[in-house]
Amino acid sequence: MEATTSLLDAAAVGDLVLLDPLTEESLLHTLQERFRRSDIYTYIGNVVISVNPYQSLPIYTPEKVQEYHNCNFFAVNPHIYAIADDAYRSLRDRDRDQCILITGESGAGKTEASKLVMSYVAAVCSKGEEVDKVKEQLLQSNPVLEAFGNAKTVRNDNSSRFGKYMDVEFDFKGEPLGGVISNYLLEKSRIVRHVKGERNFHIFYQLLAGGSAQLLQQLKLRQDCRHYSYLNRESSGLPGVDDAANFRTMQDAMRVIGFSPAEVTALLEVTAVVLKLGNVQLSSSYQASGMEACSIAEPQELQEICELIGLDPGTLEQALCSRTVKARDETVLTTLSVPQGYYGRDALAKNIYSRLFDWLVNRINTSIQVKPGQQRKVMGVLDIYGFEIFQDNGFEQFIINYCNEKLQQIFILMTLKEEQEEYVREGIQWTPVEFFDNSIICNLIENSKGGILAMLDEECLRPGVVNEDTFLTKLNQLFAAHKHYESKETQNARRVMDASLPPQCFRIHHYAGKVTYNVTGFIEKNNDLLFRDLSQAMWAARHELLRSLFPEGDPQKVSLKLPPTAGFQFKASVATLMKNLYSKNPNYIRCIKPNETKTAMLFMPELVLGQVRYLGLMENVRVRRAGYAFRQLYGPFLERYKMLSPRTWPRWAGGDREGAEVLLAELAFPPEELAFGYTKIFIRSPRTLFDLERRRQERVAQLATLIQKTFRGWRCRTQYQLMRKSQIVISAWFRGHLQKNKYKQMKRSALIIQAYARGWKVRRAYRRYFRSEASARLANFIYRRLVQKFLVGLRRNLPPLLVMDRTWPPAPYKFLADANQELRSIFYRWKCKKYREQLTPQRRALLQAKLCASELFKDKKTLYSKSLQQPFQGEYLGLTQNPKYQKLHAVAKDKLVMADTVRKVNRASGKTVPRLLLLTTEHLVLADPKAAQPKTVLSLGDIHSISVTRFSDGFLALHLKETSTGGAKGDFLLISDHLIELVTRLHQTFMDTMAQALPLHIADQFSTRFQKGDVAVTVVESAKAGSGVPVCKKRGSHKMEVLVH
Ligand SMILES: Nc1ncnc2c1ncn2[C@@H]1O[C@H](COP(=O)(O)OP(=O)(O)OP(=O)(O)O)[C@@H](O)[C@H]1O
Ligand SMILES: [Mg+2]
Repeated sequence: MEATTSLLDAAAVGDLVLLDPLTEESLLHTLQERFRRSDIYTYIGNVVISVNPYQSLPIYTPEKVQEYHNCNFFAVNPHIYAIADDAYRSLRDRDRDQCILITGESGAGKTEASKLVMSYVAAVCSKGEEVDKVKEQLLQSNPVLEAFGNAKTVRNDNSSRFGKYMDVEFDFKGEPLGGVISNYLLEKSRIVRHVKGERNFHIFYQLLAGGSAQLLQQLKLRQDCRHYSYLNRESSGLPGVDDAANFRTMQDAMRVIGFSPAEVTALLEVTAVVLKLGNVQLSSSYQASGMEACSIAEPQELQEICELIGLDPGTLEQALCSRTVKARDETVLTTLSVPQGYYGRDALAKNIYSRLFDWLVNRINTSIQVKPGQQRKVMGVLDIYGFEIFQDNGFEQFIINYCNEKLQQIFILMTLKEEQEEYVREGIQWTPVEFFDNSIICNLIENSKGGILAMLDEECLRPGVVNEDTFLTKLNQLFAAHKHYESKETQNARRVMDASLPPQCFRIHHYAGKVTYNVTGFIEKNNDLLFRDLSQAMWAARHELLRSLFPEGDPQKVSLKLPPTAGFQFKASVATLMKNLYSKNPNYIRCIKPNETKTAMLFMPELVLGQVRYLGLMENVRVRRAGYAFRQLYGPFLERYKMLSPRTWPRWAGGDREGAEVLLAELAFPPEELAFGYTKIFIRSPRTLFDLERRRQERVAQLATLIQKTFRGWRCRTQYQLMRKSQIVISAWFRGHLQKNKYKQMKRSALIIQAYARGWKVRRAYRRYFRSEASARLANFIYRRLVQKFLVGLRRNLPPLLVMDRTWPPAPYKFLADANQELRSIFYRWKCKKYREQLTPQRRALLQAKLCASELFKDKKTLYSKSLQQPFQGEYLGLTQNPKYQKLHAVAKDKLVMADTVRKVNRASGKTVPRLLLLTTEHLVLADPKAAQPKTVLSLGDIHSISVTRFSDGFLALHLKETSTGGAKGDFLLISDHLIELVTRLHQTFMDTMAQALPLHIADQFSTRFQKGDVAVTVVESAKAGSGVPVCKKRGSHKMEVLVH
């Protein structure tokens, strides 16, 4: 609420509308008091008065920008940011083009104010790469234009010597797109002349101070300002201003805007040319005709200029020293006098510079211009030179003051007249306020038929002798009775004595005061002539930029038509400007200069009072006070404040006006505070509006709280419901899951129980079959597997096929032992069979014999083991080879089984005799070895049995049947070396022939039957029996002892 106190502070009200009592003194006092408190801004309604503090105040910080961003205009301390914010928001939110008119005299702070407005808008509008670039370009146009268009004057160290109107263009979101700059009437005379204590345009000093040695050399310049006559050959420094640094800033700014290095160089070259032109000296000479002429005194400078711009020095010299005059069809070259020459030179310098400045503005515009076709809103900022009253006022002041007069007219039209007219329009009870309408002065100057400017043009164009005197006379005739026009002549006519008005002058009673203008130079400046020879010379230069500045120099385009006069051009551009401003919503910043000495915080009341008067501030306040501080269409008003009444909130069903009436009736403001127009509501004092606004803010806060509350409630409720729903879903799922699990478990358990029960039942029913069979099957299967494995393993590990090899792998399992054994024997037998099958019949027979021997004797007779090694040869006698045995061979014929030598034991003595024994398949033959005659032939059928001992002897008893013929002498006792073979063969043959077994006795005692009776044979084992041959000893007639070893 600091703002409220500031606005309503009785000692120094922030809004002069609230001033009580309203007098010039109180107004001045308020401004002074506020200024003392460093409150340099004060309102009159929504007009901002700014008093130049001449010192930097801490009120332009980023925090301040934030403070004023989206502020309520009447709720914060008056500030230039507030009006900038109001204008920007109105532009962005209400789609109204804005213009900010900054007025005030030189040094009052207009340019600073315009920069503050621009920087504020740049700070609050949105950010982004593209937007920042545009903003930067717009802001950077200032240092460039200030370098070329500003100069130090006695009033202001940085005085704008041109008028500037800048349209900043925004898109529908309020983002800057670009802009257009218009410049008005550069004070070009400053190029060639300026008052002592002032300076030429900043750029010259900046270039000389800040340009590098290389650059200066390239531009053929010297660093010392005193070298240049246009710079007045005086020391150039300004306290607190660093020209070199400013030059760098300016160069950087050019780069940001988009100047190419070549463009910058060209620009500086032309600037250098202007500077150097001032040093071109002329000297007088006389032609042969006696006519005065001039010539270049020192060709060096001219030479350098021509080198810079690519021109033949002769051409420039001729253009500077002579002039082509066209008389009818002839062209005559006339020489110029020295003053004419200097006039031409200066005119050239001024023209080059002013055209260069125009080019510069256009070039900047090219960079910042918005692409066509984009919808845009515009904020115009006008920073134009202020009203000027000098001791000696010339054409420039006349023009400048005319411009200010027009701006005042706009102000009057828009704020005073327009306002009053609005009251009438709206049908509001209204006592008209007297105010000074300056259209009469504007008319005096600009009237196209009989205005001062029109008269001046007429004089300039009129053939014949033309000078300022004729012009003044004309004015005196025309405006003899005009209230705002005075001259010596009109005063005389009215018999007024006024020593302050010299004869060559006229005086105009401007809205801001009386100004006396000296007509000297009016015609010349209005004509603004440049000799065609000079523009042609410039056009002939090779320097592209310079050449482009003088299109009329092109000989192809020679036109006899005079160019429009300076006054005419200015009037036209002011008219355009006015039209432009009329189409926009105006915002005023009225700058006041508190002292003439640029002293910080010094307030000189008399000086300020003058400005207060000519700015019409009193009238401004009066109209504001008499009228209504605020007006708005019913619709937007109701929309904005409808929340203040429950009847209009949230919606009003009726008409807008009725709604506003209902609303305001409820708010109970004093009736004089309000007026209801046809379409608008009017509120008298800002206080009421502020009250309304305050209530609105409170209500908005309440509503916001309500919305917040409702929203929070809704959010919490929704969240709660959501959570509840979620919780229900979760618990439903969880319960479901739990129950499902439980059910699954139960089901599983039931199934298990069921399975067990069924199993149990079935098992009980089928146990017997099931189990036995199962185990049998299982066992069977396992057995089979084991057997299979065993057999397969066996097949791989079969022992060698040798008959003698009895090896056999052991059974892997016990239960396979029998089978293994069986297999082993089968295998063995099979092996034997195989073996047998490959035997020859002889070998077979032999082996059969051996087998038979084994059956007969194995383990029964000791001799058997010895016989194993002996092969059964059968034929030991060699019957076939020995012819002695022919006869015996015949007996045996083919049926011979065995032939051997045996010893026959004499039955009676026990002595032995050799005998040949032949065994055939049918007979047993004993023969005498010497005679080889058979002695005894026994048929096999005669043999009853055989007896042999247990020992390893060859003794044998061959028992014969009693009935046999061969056995008449009784049984035979024989001793054979091949006993085993003999008995075996006998046995075999007997079996084959008789088909019965021959009994064999193996005993130690047996009985034999001899012819003389039976004899008992006793076998005695004795060592006497020599070398295996048994010895038979007869012991009586019936006993015989056989000693064997
Ligand atoms: N708000 C301000 N705070 C501090 N100093 C200021 C302020 N406004 C202006 N000044 C000072 O006053 C000087 C002159 O201001 P400025 O150049 O804006 O005047 P002007 O009205 O543009 O004058 P001219 O018509 O000659 O161009 C500035 O150089 C600056 O020193
Ligand atoms: Mg300025």
